[in-house]
Amino acid sequence: MTITALKGFKDILPGESEKWLFMEETARRIFQTFGFSEIRTPVLEKTDLFISSIGNYTDIVEKEMYTLIDRSGDSITLRPEATVSVMRAFIEHNLQGQQPVHRLYSIGPMFRHERPQKGRFRQFHQINAEYIGTASPFADAEMIYLLIQILDHLGLEETRLRINSLGCPLCRPSFNSALQDFLGEQKEVLCPDCQRRMETNPLRVFDCKVERCGEVLTAAPRITTFICMECLKHFEQVQELIAGLSIPVQRDPRLVRGLDYYCRTTFEVSVSHLGSQDAVAGGGRYDGLIRELGGPDRPAIGFAIGLDRAALLLSTLEEWINRPFVFLIPLGTAARDQAFNLLTVLYKKEIPAMMEYEDKSLKSQLKRADKIKSHYAAILGTEELNKNQILIRNLNDQSQEFIPIPHFLDYFLERYYKKKV
Ligand code: HAM
Repeated sequence: MTITALKGFKDILPGESEKWLFMEETARRIFQTFGFSEIRTPVLEKTDLFISSIGNYTDIVEKEMYTLIDRSGDSITLRPEATVSVMRAFIEHNLQGQQPVHRLYSIGPMFRHERPQKGRFRQFHQINAEYIGTASPFADAEMIYLLIQILDHLGLEETRLRINSLGCPLCRPSFNSALQDFLGEQKEVLCPDCQRRMETNPLRVFDCKVERCGEVLTAAPRITTFICMECLKHFEQVQELIAGLSIPVQRDPRLVRGLDYYCRTTFEVSVSHLGSQDAVAGGGRYDGLIRELGGPDRPAIGFAIGLDRAALLLSTLEEWINRPFVFLIPLGTAARDQAFNLLTVLYKKEIPAMMEYEDKSLKSQLKRADKIKSHYAAILGTEELNKNQILIRNLNDQSQEFIPIPHFLDYFLERYYKKKV
């Protein structure tokens, strides 16, 4: 019996992996422009790290964590998201002592035991960004701008940005009790999960995917009518700044974002043609998290982009294929030795090239070069070898010319690097 990958875990194969490289390289380039540094944290953490920070009554903690007891008897969990791990590392390595603000990004796999479907996996990947050390609404606007810049550079179209404010620990309780009163009147109609959450953590009722509960919530009180003056001022300023950046945005009072650590600004970007799993990125402010984890009192804001979903949106593009620039075609043993030398000369100058070592006819090697979309074929037969030249065929327009072998490298250096600029 052959062994296959686990349900909800997938391989990223050649043809697809080029897209991933493109997404990661694009993000890294933009992060550099915005002054972000990379941080890499382990995929396994102590279970306790996630429980209260993400929230005891969230779907993630209640139903989705990959938690296991290791050989030493300790409870460990595959990270379901990156923010909490990054904050753990921030505190553990005393990064706050080094400078007042920190801009950190990370890229990697996350694990949630959800029901797999299109755009929803059990191992999925995020590009994650955190801006630590400032509560300024300018930081919120900058992070939203950064997110939109990355999505634009990835070529994602028809994106929809929604924004909300969840208030702060001072104003949230009054909203919670109004929500509890409202839900109490509708208790009979709510699903058992919501009936429970109504008592323990009413905000989490908004995460419910049961249609009946969604209908009830359309008439629920709106958090933005309960937030304090400070939070309202902050929210208005964020919206003004976003408008000033000409980023279209919609207010969504039901956007509570499934993790307990958020306060004030929350936001999400969705794309309609992704189907039911339409959120391609989400984030928000979490001013109390670092303190809750035992660190200093530092405000922060961040977001994560779901790479698996972004990749689905890029799947129709052909340009991701890793095309060689030159496909070397030797005909005969002596030609193969010489072609192998030329191949290594190209590699040394980082010009993508390829050659295959089986004895095959000119026709079948040309067919192969065409199939993998090489830009050029360089054909070397005994006759060319005797004249110390090589036949170059441009596979885009089928024009061809002989060049002296000593000019081979210059010929491709000029064409490859000119093409790149
Ligand atoms: P999140 O909304 O849970 O936020 O996840 C962010 C993105 O990860 C989602 O918008 C989605 O694109 C992707 N995603 C989540 N779950 C899955 C899944 N099962 N399969 C495929 N993609 C998925 C966070 O994780 C926060 N830590 C973001 C953040 C950073 N907030 C502040 N800083």
